[in-house]
Amino acid sequence: MSKHTFILNGKPVSVDVDDNVRLLWVLRDVLGVRGPKYGCGINVCKACTSHFNGKAFNPCSVRVADIKATDEITTIEGLPDTVKADLHPMQEAWLENDVAQCGYCQPGQIMAAVAKVKEAKAKGREINDADLDEIRNVCRCGTYSRIREAIKAGAAKM
Ligand code: FES
Ligand code: FES
Repeated sequence: MSKHTFILNGKPVSVDVDDNVRLLWVLRDVLGVRGPKYGCGINVCKACTSHFNGKAFNPCSVRVADIKATDEITTIEGLPDTVKADLHPMQEAWLENDVAQCGYCQPGQIMAAVAKVKEAKAKGREINDADLDEIRNVCRCGTYSRIREAIKAGAAKM
């Protein structure tokens, strides 16, 4: 066991776990943050998508020892705080478009969507269909067409 410190949803947290434990288990099992979902555990399904220093990443594929004290991890729980609102515009767009079916993949989908829109904005342009094609998050319920509509609507308000 060793101590690991990082910033989670805007606040410093410390955990005492083995270096090799993947961050997803630290978030879910040690810290009780359950927004990032466990689907595959091997960086394929993207159900656990969260943000690492503002960029999308999959905590099931990162060892806790590889996170530095200054690194900022944001999960769906912390997303509204990034815009100082009750809900992030992308979450509002999700509700307006009634995207979710079973809901399991949706936190990861929203986090992937926000990161993708920010990526496009950083390049000085709006999100396009090619960007949407790059989002690889799996939805077993097949909500993909509503996801695409919601991302475009959410992007317009970001
Ligand atoms: S659980 Fe992380 S990518 Fe599948
Ligand atoms: S809404 Fe059920 S897995 Fe996507």
